[in-house]
Amino acid sequence: MAVVKANAYGHGAIETSRTLIRHGVTRLAVFSTEEGVTLRQAGITVPIVVLGPIFHEQFGDLFAHQLTPVVSDPSMVPTLAQAAASRATPYPIHLKIETGMGRLGLTQDELKTLFNSHQFPSSLQLEGLMTHLADADGSNPDATEQQISRFNEAAKIVLENGFRVPLVHVSNSGGAVRFRSTHFSLVRPGIMLYGYHTLPGTVEAPGLRPVLSLKTCVAQLRTIQPGETVSYNRTFTAKRLTRIAVLPIGYAGGLSRHLSNRGSVLIRGRRAPIAGLVCMDMILADITAIPGVIVGDEVVLIGQQENEHITARDIAEWTGTISYEVLCAISPQIPRIYHSS
Ligand SMILES: Cc1ncc(COP(=O)(O)O)c(C=O)c1O
Repeated sequence: MAVVKANAYGHGAIETSRTLIRHGVTRLAVFSTEEGVTLRQAGITVPIVVLGPIFHEQFGDLFAHQLTPVVSDPSMVPTLAQAAASRATPYPIHLKIETGMGRLGLTQDELKTLFNSHQFPSSLQLEGLMTHLADADGSNPDATEQQISRFNEAAKIVLENGFRVPLVHVSNSGGAVRFRSTHFSLVRPGIMLYGYHTLPGTVEAPGLRPVLSLKTCVAQLRTIQPGETVSYNRTFTAKRLTRIAVLPIGYAGGLSRHLSNRGSVLIRGRRAPIAGLVCMDMILADITAIPGVIVGDEVVLIGQQENEHITARDIAEWTGTISYEVLCAISPQIPRIYHSS
């Protein structure tokens, strides 16, 4: 079950989903009902699981588009059951168990209450049972082992109440690579599908290649004198005669403002430092050391140019975050161009 939430981690949910399905993925996971509807409207017919919370107002869309909700809050069971009561067949749901993430999911006590006192509603079909790992990429595996054992206890409760659940799933990318006992019937990788991981150095990572490049081109060139400044609040002052390239992408496009005067871009196969504050739609790069740059030259923000490369992980290090956030931040307004392999 491929995780394509957040616009497929910035890669474009529709094309990414189509590609994953072509490569054998049989099930998709999104965060919201709205994300699921977008995929259905694009003609995607494989089962889609909505990982995030669902609300009463979304039941109409959920049913109309055959989206499978993850029920995490016990109060949602009777509400959803009532809404599904008029349907010809029981509506499939996945139940999420809280095992240590401290976020969404039923506790073991809530699970017992659901199965012991209230009969599990006949208008719902318990198709899936799941949890989410909090520390699959942590250096110490103990917390994950504990989550797995709590999940197994919960699965036993469900089984003892006479339910055979066809789809049991626990692993994100890190879990799938590190903890074989979490494979069950499905795994839910996200980040590794896109060529990144956050595994600790002690764990051998699979051979991954980043899928996405982020490029722009030089919009204007200027030469500034020593002592002159560029961009808002004049945070970059030229120390020598300096060549500046103006690049038409900024924080509205997904480049963190923390890249101001930090990090670099690739032009003509060389690194050009970012100069001054990142603007909403533009950044400036110091290209003094790179001869021959002209307007229209390709600029790589993420990806490879000649022998140099910049990854989302590099940007994450420069800006104090993780590759996930760098990828998800790339605005849907940025045109995506897809190359088939
Ligand atoms: C419930 C759930 N499952 C799976 C994933 C995929 O995780 P990863 O991208 O680490 O593989 C996520 C991502 O946040 C998630 O929230």
